[in-house]
Amino acid sequence: MQKKIIEIAGGHVPARILMIANRLGLFKVLSSNSGAKALTVKEVSRRLKTDSGSMERLMNALVALGLLSKQNRRYRLAREAASYLTPDGSESLCDSITLYDTFWEVWGELDRMIRRGRPIMTMMDLIKKDRRILKNFIHGMRDRAAQAAHMISPHLDFKRARTVLDLGAGPGVYALEWVKTYPRISATVFDIPSVVPITRQYVRSYGLADRVKVKSGDFKRDPIGQGYDLILLANILQMYGPADCQRLLRKVYRALKPGGQAVIHGFMTDATGTRPREAAIFALTIGLVTPSGNAHSVPLTARWLKTAGFRDLRMFNIDVIPSSVMVARK
Ligand SMILES: C[S@@+](CC[C@H](N)C(=O)[O-])C[C@H]1O[C@@H](n2cnc3c(N)ncnc32)[C@H](O)[C@@H]1O
Repeated sequence: MQKKIIEIAGGHVPARILMIANRLGLFKVLSSNSGAKALTVKEVSRRLKTDSGSMERLMNALVALGLLSKQNRRYRLAREAASYLTPDGSESLCDSITLYDTFWEVWGELDRMIRRGRPIMTMMDLIKKDRRILKNFIHGMRDRAAQAAHMISPHLDFKRARTVLDLGAGPGVYALEWVKTYPRISATVFDIPSVVPITRQYVRSYGLADRVKVKSGDFKRDPIGQGYDLILLANILQMYGPADCQRLLRKVYRALKPGGQAVIHGFMTDATGTRPREAAIFALTIGLVTPSGNAHSVPLTARWLKTAGFRDLRMFNIDVIPSSVMVARK
């Protein structure tokens, strides 16, 4: 336990090393040099305009963490980490790392948030402060969305489904992956006006504009359409408080065809609020940046679904964070 406590207390140290290396552009410089010979500290420092003595400490620490490798005073991305730390790579986690970096400042306010019981800075404040944060927030979600979409799909009834609505789609990757995989379905991806230009970029990059419609609006106020076979809420309920979630689930119910499926993917705790670990911690994270968001519990979410009229509730976990999925039928 002593070791565990010390590890938790110092958990910010490796996290900051990773975030700052990403922020400084170290991974970009090293990955753009891949194939060529590895770089010395001096070469890296010249390109990034940093102090070479401090840079050497940072790069050695990254070697110690297993993220870089070093041979004859030359550094490159470690083989196992390279695809994840190459900013433009298809498996890149660099946007996710930047998202953690964005939240760093907010975590510094945790004590104030707990004293006053409301966020110090909302997600909207963060986005207004720097427009790049919105882009980064959306791109940061892409990293695990494709994986999640493929882990969820075997549990869904895609034999009968033709029309899918991805509500609060962000990059729209779930719907895009499903439309790519199942040739008979078409999808609507729905998000707020400031996000849809980014969503459109994703639709174009998948080459699926003929089967994926992008719709802009506020799902709390605006119509979301009718007659869908499947409606996905991925990482949505956790952004809102109980009253908004209940209203939204009733709206989802009305927008589905009889027999249609509602799919909820996100952070949900058990009845005690303490498991799984990722969801218990997420409840704090979302409390820092939204007025009433939460990792609503599985029993509470199930109750909302039943009250909205849904039946045949099923719950399962996937091997990606967040891990909880709930499916229900109209
Ligand atoms: C946490 S992201 C999830 C994105 C995507 N579903 C995923 O899991 O990858 C939440 C998304 O919901 C969108 N959103 C939140 N409130 C919304 C609202 N009232 N109307 C439409 N979109 C909304 C946000 O703009 C954002 O893109």
